[in-house]
Amino acid sequence: MNRPSAADVVVIGAGAAGMMCAIEAGRRGRRVVLIDHARAPGEKIRISGGGRCNFTNLDAAPRNYLSANAGFCISALKRFTQHDFVRRVEARGIAYHEKTLGQLFCDGSSRQIVDMLTDELRAAGAELKLSTSVTGYERTGDGFTLATTEGALTCRSLVIATGGKSIPKMGATGFGYEVAERFGLKVQSTRPGLVPLTLDPALLERLAPLAGVGVEARLRHGKTRFDEGLLFTHRGLSGPAVLQISSYWREGDEIEVALAPSKDVFTHLRTARAANGRQAPATVLAGLLPKRLAQMIADREAGARNLADLSDKVLQRIDGAVNGWKLKPTGSEGYRTAEVTLGGVDTDGLDSRTMQARDVPGLYFIGEVVDVTGWLGGYNFQWAWSSGWVAGQCA
Ligand code: FDA
Repeated sequence: MNRPSAADVVVIGAGAAGMMCAIEAGRRGRRVVLIDHARAPGEKIRISGGGRCNFTNLDAAPRNYLSANAGFCISALKRFTQHDFVRRVEARGIAYHEKTLGQLFCDGSSRQIVDMLTDELRAAGAELKLSTSVTGYERTGDGFTLATTEGALTCRSLVIATGGKSIPKMGATGFGYEVAERFGLKVQSTRPGLVPLTLDPALLERLAPLAGVGVEARLRHGKTRFDEGLLFTHRGLSGPAVLQISSYWREGDEIEVALAPSKDVFTHLRTARAANGRQAPATVLAGLLPKRLAQMIADREAGARNLADLSDKVLQRIDGAVNGWKLKPTGSEGYRTAEVTLGGVDTDGLDSRTMQARDVPGLYFIGEVVDVTGWLGGYNFQWAWSSGWVAGQCA
């Protein structure tokens, strides 16, 4: 039998977090092997942000992350910030722009980010092994021995960067959670996040004519609120505000939707009624909402009546239908379309400064596999860069 090849650091998962960690460890002179079962590295980077990669957010801060331990992400986000990543992008000469709300996108293509990382990997001397699966792993001495489809490997530090469960057809697996459990770490239960929400068939049928309509809305779930776009679809609700709130929503919960959040609809309708009572309510509402949406709400609340025939009570009902819509989604579209996985390796078992498992020296978890999940808007890549960077200083 061939002797296993020896590395200082093996990183499993050549996504955003794994590549960043491998680059940093390689720059420290460590012999690094980066393994991925996919044929290409950074596939999620490639498809992200509609092909332009929303690679970070200027405002990234701990409050933008969900975790059972809200403070866990503070250290890594502070040590390698969004500005640090932006400096790398600028040094590489990649043109970028702020789209909205601090979200930075490449002007050109997300491939520029993948190419930057793979070039940095090469320069740091890290070996990238693609189309390689890990078939076994165990603790041996003060390191680890791995069996892979390309032969056996030993290492002092093993970094798990295999991401979450979203988009299984792109190679997402539960591998990282299995490793954690095998080594005695707890795993917070996982569920899809940043995902479209589905509605019950009766409501869906009623809303069917709105498929494709988008509106700037305010969505609330408890004390959490997002003011962003909402999109009616054939399956339910999507758009940034819906994806954001989906990470907070649990089965059975209600969410509240304001479809014209900056408008006092009641006053607007009253004023319009006083000025010209013969107007159809849909015409007036269409000044505040997309036409199809205005028509649907007016038809439902006012029938064929014009404004002069509507009492204040009816106007208030219309106001409620626009800005106080309470609904209970029936579920989500699941991992098939979710951008992230909520939950994951419990942070209690990890050192927040290094991402190393407290009770298993040499074992690290970084990126999405950890129970730290960002909002939509570049926050998840920033977590991958930050957690990968800190592990790379130590592994
Ligand atoms: P990631 O999933 O990127 O990488 C994990 C790697 O591990 C993969 O290469 C996989 O092949 C490999 N792997 C898994 N199991 C393995 C096994 N058993 N053996 C070997 N290899 C294995 N975020 C953001 O901030 N801005 C954005 O614009 C977007 N856009 C976006 C679009 C879409 C469609 C999705 C699905 C997601 C996003 N995201 C995003 C989220 C972002 O992509 C995600 O949070 C990061 O990619 C997580 O980085 P990781 O490196 O942790 O995992």
